[in-house]
Amino acid sequence: MASIVTIERHILEQQKRYPGATGVFTQLLYDMALAAKIIARETTRAGLVGILGASDDHNVYGEQQQKLDIFADETIFKINDHTGRLCAMASEEHEDIIQIPPHFDTGKYVLLYDPLDGSSNIDVNVSVGTIFAIHRKVSTSERGAPEDILQPGRNLAAAGYVIYGSSTMMVYSTGQGVHGFTLDPSVGEFLLSHQNIRIPNEAMYYSANAGNEKYWTPGVRRYGKWLQGIEGEGRKPLGHRYIGSLVSDFHRNLLRGGVFFYPGDLQEAGKPYGKMRLMFEAQAIGFLAEQAGGYCSDGIGNVLDIQPHSLHQRVPLIVGNRDLVEKAEAYIREYDQEWVEAYRPFREGQMEAAGND
Ligand code: AHG
Ligand code: MN
Ligand code: MN
Repeated sequence: MASIVTIERHILEQQKRYPGATGVFTQLLYDMALAAKIIARETTRAGLVGILGASDDHNVYGEQQQKLDIFADETIFKINDHTGRLCAMASEEHEDIIQIPPHFDTGKYVLLYDPLDGSSNIDVNVSVGTIFAIHRKVSTSERGAPEDILQPGRNLAAAGYVIYGSSTMMVYSTGQGVHGFTLDPSVGEFLLSHQNIRIPNEAMYYSANAGNEKYWTPGVRRYGKWLQGIEGEGRKPLGHRYIGSLVSDFHRNLLRGGVFFYPGDLQEAGKPYGKMRLMFEAQAIGFLAEQAGGYCSDGIGNVLDIQPHSLHQRVPLIVGNRDLVEKAEAYIREYDQEWVEAYRPFREGQMEAAGND
């Protein structure tokens, strides 16, 4: 008979492993669990409270913001702005670093978040999510400084995601394994449902937007055929599953084994860097993948080792079973040198994305 473990108690147990932990970090994870409950409530009611549909605002990428995007973004900010645990925040929906209001104390952590991931799925009742990452403050300045935010994923103190789907789940890691909690809405508690998630050795699925295949580079195209058992040594084909919400595609592959890839391509000159956001999606997902025994690459190397140079930097993302991700890197190394040469300056900060793209 499994014991009933709430996320609060689990976080406290985790904290005990950090001698001298002050509990601030633990409180910060509670805060994200609270934000998840509040956003979950709205996502299940979205159809009823006129929160559906696009707002007339647009985010830094020029994407029309869905009202739920804005609700989720504001909820996370309002839960964290006054606690004195953070020195700054950054959100996918805000162009610049979000400073803590001057009348509130600052703390020694930084919160980065994608408040609503999979926004295109909101109006069609397909699961969406929230992604968050927590860095430790490294600058000596009183308030948040760019160097506190633009840290490599290798430095992360914690990361996690929430999926608002058939059930609401919160998955997080503080570097001591990956743990999943399912919300019991009747008592408003996240209860431990997936202790120490490890990605299965045998993969079942691959996830990619096959509609982009025309633009994929030669190596990535071959890789896609290899996953289907058509190219190379004729491996057993993997099932194709693609939801269009990174958190849901990643979560399924984490539990069942598989690889998600959103590659860079040469469709648009000067934009070889793909779609995923390094600071708001890739670092958190990469941290969790590695904690669960998987691997996350941008096609060249480990996403966690990329030194960020801009807040809204985009990266290609290939994440899941280590052997499947390394196979993608091998295909890219062998067939996609043209793309590698085009992308590398963006990876290393010698070139910036065009505009706010
Ligand atoms: P967001 O809604 O935060 O912009 O994220 C959407 C991302 C990611 O969740 C998903 O994997 C990907 O966009 C889907 O992109 P395509 O619709 O181009 O396949
Ligand atoms: Mn997203
Ligand atoms: Mn988003």
